[in-house]
Amino acid sequence: MKCRARAHANIALIKYWGKRDARLNLPAVGSISLTLSTLRSETEIVFSDEIEQDVLFLNGQKAKPKEVARVSSFLDLIRDRAKIKQKARINSFNNFPTAAGLASSASGFAALTLAATRALRLNLSARELSVLARRGSGSAARSIFGGFVEMHKGVSDDGSDAFAEQLFPPDYWDIRLLIGITSEQPKKVGSTDGMTLSKETSPYYRNWIETQEYDLQQMREAIKTKDFPKLGELSEHSCLKMHAVALSGNPGIIYWNAVTVEAMHAVRELRRTGVPAFFTIDAGPQIKVLCLPEDEQKTRDCLLSVPGIERVIVNRPGPDAQILEEDN
Ligand code: DP6
Repeated sequence: MKCRARAHANIALIKYWGKRDARLNLPAVGSISLTLSTLRSETEIVFSDEIEQDVLFLNGQKAKPKEVARVSSFLDLIRDRAKIKQKARINSFNNFPTAAGLASSASGFAALTLAATRALRLNLSARELSVLARRGSGSAARSIFGGFVEMHKGVSDDGSDAFAEQLFPPDYWDIRLLIGITSEQPKKVGSTDGMTLSKETSPYYRNWIETQEYDLQQMREAIKTKDFPKLGELSEHSCLKMHAVALSGNPGIIYWNAVTVEAMHAVRELRRTGVPAFFTIDAGPQIKVLCLPEDEQKTRDCLLSVPGIERVIVNRPGPDAQILEEDN
């Protein structure tokens, strides 16, 4: 019982931040993302009677006990469903820095969901895969799909309506998302803990939740009409709002470093010269910049001109998660 699958990372244009149910990992808000062409995870899983405990290797290194525990309890959901007890050996590779705010949990859990369910011959629809991937990580629900993707927060208590779906496929609109790497260190406060703190202590949390529906609706419209400045402005706004909520918790979380802030100013300066480029940032210090294909070079040069940014990763809209190999 073996399978290898690949899933691409995604970056939220309208952010997910906050949970309505932590146990079932139900998001408090919907979100809209772009699946990326370059960043991806490949995961191979083998279930066998001969394996005594779940074993996880991340980029060839034995994972930490906390990471193994998270993956193990996620696999328990799949084992229950398949009515098996076999433990698994998992090998997962990211072609980018892990846990530095680069959506490694999104692509990692999406690839694992696909590989594990297929290895156990559970024939799930893309929507069912998305519901399941969400239990591993909220943003992973979106990485099942390529292109422009919307995650629904759902209203049911069991989470069956909290899934992602594709709004438009990758070839619908050729836009670029450039990632400026400011640090390859793992982040100090993970998204899950950050969200809990925001919910419990930020005075702005309620407003964040209340204004999300409007932002989602505006973003759907911007994508539908291919209005790039609108997509960019909304993305920047949602990012700054999410960070305002994280910053206003107690203790406030600062995901940015000095280079991130310099880069935010540089992008706005570039915009003043007439180039429609817009930033977004997740729960880490990397800066992501949205631009049109014709402005890729200028945007890249702009990021590389910021002292401290040594590497820029260029992405287009990326594909659905897919199976790479399975035994028959
Ligand atoms: C800032 O999906 O990593 O990237 O559900 O707790 O695993 P968990 O959180 P995760 O959070 C992602 C937060 C974000 C915004 C986003 O991707 O929408």
